[in-house]
Amino acid sequence: MKTEIIRKLKETDGYVSGQQLCELLGVSRTAVWKVIRQLRDEGYQIEAVRNRGYRLLEVADVLTEAECRNRLAGRWLGNPVYCFDEIDSTNTRAKLLAEKGAPEGTLVIAESQTAGKGRRGRSWASPPGEGLWFSFVLRPQIRPSVAPMITLAAALAVAASIEDVCGLPARIKWPNDIVISGRKLVGILTELSAETLEVHYVVVGIGINVNMTEFPEEIRRTATSLYLESGKRFKRCDIVAAVMKRMEEYYAAYMNTCSLAAMKDEYMGRLANLNREVAVITLREEWRGLCEGIDEYGRLLVRRKDGSLEKIVSGEVSVRGIYGYV
Ligand code: BTN
Repeated sequence: MKTEIIRKLKETDGYVSGQQLCELLGVSRTAVWKVIRQLRDEGYQIEAVRNRGYRLLEVADVLTEAECRNRLAGRWLGNPVYCFDEIDSTNTRAKLLAEKGAPEGTLVIAESQTAGKGRRGRSWASPPGEGLWFSFVLRPQIRPSVAPMITLAAALAVAASIEDVCGLPARIKWPNDIVISGRKLVGILTELSAETLEVHYVVVGIGINVNMTEFPEEIRRTATSLYLESGKRFKRCDIVAAVMKRMEEYYAAYMNTCSLAAMKDEYMGRLANLNREVAVITLREEWRGLCEGIDEYGRLLVRRKDGSLEKIVSGEVSVRGIYGYV
């Protein structure tokens, strides 16, 4: 009922009478009033005027199922959507749902995470109100060895969405950190459940620093937020909806050929490491070379000093910039 009331208020330029809402939903005036009160508690500014009805003054930056469902209507990615005020980790919950048979496209969003997970076993600070923490379930029929490319497609989807919604020039630090002005804005953690030849499901978890004004000491010099970069506050629902739309496109392109062929050029156009010297760090050695881009399988092409070209597979090594974070 919340979803319908929000939709009706949004599409009406002026007042919607209580009677109209009762007829639309087939419920009593008291039931409508209860929902209006709940929406106000969630942060929507709704004016109520005697003999005229209700009018939406401002759409709040809320991450409720009703608000998200409105934005995600008609999409397979983001359907169903589960929103939590607080959860351990959206990745953990999405994996649990996937284990129980949740369909491809299932989306989990949280206002805050108590055990947000980063890559390489690190934790991911996820305070309420300022960031966007979400994970979705995919069920591609592919070999596990080609699954890491999904993370690169997701990075491209997020970078493009940030440009769509915020107009900011988001770039990618290979394989999947989104950076602006050389600082990290987004982290992506992809988890896979598979057998030797078959993928059961993939969970892609994305953390976006949206409205933060400051960060914990250990990441203060390397992290940034959309607010810090633009001076504007963004509605997190707009961003998650844009990511779902873009990800549907890039995922379809990836599934067509099981490669990044169709999006390689676009990825290269956003690659922050391109034509820069990078340090490649493996368990055995560390060496430097010039980054020349990626190939259609998402491998980073790095030219060694002796002229040979190495193709670096994501997940096996760490690649760092020589000067600063990128
Ligand atoms: C990284 O280390 O860069 C990856 C960070 C990924 C964080 C996101 S926040 C939403 C999802 N849930 C988690 O527990 N982690 C990911």
